[in-house]
Amino acid sequence: MRSLRERRLARCHSVHDLRRTAKRRLPRAVFDFADGGAEDETTLRRNSTGFDRFDLVPKVLVDVADVRINTSILGQQIDLPVILAPTGMNRLFHPDGERAVARAGHRAGTVYTLSSMSSMSIAELAAAAPAGLNWFQVYVWRDRGLVKELFSRCRESGYDALCLTVDVPVLGQRERDLRNGMTMPPRLTAGAILDAAAHPNWWWRFLTYPRPTFSNVIGQGEAGKADASVLGTYVNTQFDPSVDWDDLAWMIEEWGGPFAIKGISRPADARRAADVGVGAVFVSNHGGRQLDAAISAIDALPAIIEELGDDVEVVLDGGVRRGTDVVKALAMGARACAIGRAYLYGLASGGEPGVERALELMEREIRRAMALVGCPDIDDLDASFVRERSDSASRANSLSA
Ligand SMILES: Cc1cc2nc3c(=O)[nH]c(=O)nc-3n(C[C@H](O)[C@H](O)[C@H](O)COP(=O)(O)O)c2cc1C
Repeated sequence: MRSLRERRLARCHSVHDLRRTAKRRLPRAVFDFADGGAEDETTLRRNSTGFDRFDLVPKVLVDVADVRINTSILGQQIDLPVILAPTGMNRLFHPDGERAVARAGHRAGTVYTLSSMSSMSIAELAAAAPAGLNWFQVYVWRDRGLVKELFSRCRESGYDALCLTVDVPVLGQRERDLRNGMTMPPRLTAGAILDAAAHPNWWWRFLTYPRPTFSNVIGQGEAGKADASVLGTYVNTQFDPSVDWDDLAWMIEEWGGPFAIKGISRPADARRAADVGVGAVFVSNHGGRQLDAAISAIDALPAIIEELGDDVEVVLDGGVRRGTDVVKALAMGARACAIGRAYLYGLASGGEPGVERALELMEREIRRAMALVGCPDIDDLDASFVRERSDSASRANSLSA
């Protein structure tokens, strides 16, 4: 007989269904922490709705009996063109946290990126999910000694690549979090606490498992304190608004291995990063969590692809919820897409099997879209399969509707 969880996940037929399930299962403050974006959430919305500006143009009478979607990124073979972006504090969503995400990712044959702000440390994650598909996301923190220490921990634990996030010179303002009191230190409002009480399963797990904290910086900040509010306050002081291109060069040299930069929206920045020596560029605005009104990732993609050509690999990161989103980005020239919220909704809906479900849905949708668009091989997805809607085309469609 199928368990309740299996039945719950089987009823989810898309990432949107997983989101609705996550919303029911999480206290509002926790759901909003994952779901929300900066200020008016314009960029958050446009990251997803931006895909609607592009149509797929199917080719017919093509043999699509076998569809191939495996590719490589930074020299690593992956079974589907979707990788797992770094997201902090995963144990808020499920006690298995980052371990569940990494394991499900590895089983699907793809890369997992551990966040600097993770609730599981570099070594713990590598021990729990040692598949040789682990990357680590870094910031250039004020304490460069700590940055170097994180690098050597990554080396010891066999991480394959580093990903430097560059869109957080200062913290963006997520107003849902402010309203709920999901701040550092937390100042949960009475409403948020009452709402959390209505989610006893979540509370039970929160209280009976070790409390999530910023595991990579335990031992920093106030001596002997390991709880999230103390370490979170410490981490917030570590974001350095003076970071520049010299710091990127320093990091690439210091690491000496495969290196990606995440948070690029301008072609000239992408070119400069390529010249400094990155192997992959994530076109990304931090999932709309930093600068609101920033250009959406999919809108920023074409000019960056045009600038870079084949010089470095490009990852589209932001707003991906459907296989057709991935197919559009790849047809426009991206090597792969990264997902954040899509797997977090899965994690909250059912732990590791929930993440597995998110990836399974994504893979099926990509395969189906490739077959329907008439392109059985990922390497043949080119610009002929996608067309930007012109205003007149949109108007024509709405008139004939
Ligand atoms: C809850 C949450 C936490 C995140 N934490 C980090 C982080 O620690 N480091 C980072 O570089 N990006 C972080 N991100 C951004 C993701 O890496 C990714 O860029 C974003 O989620 C992509 O957009 P999507 O959620 O629409 O897929 C976070 C995103 C979310 C939703």
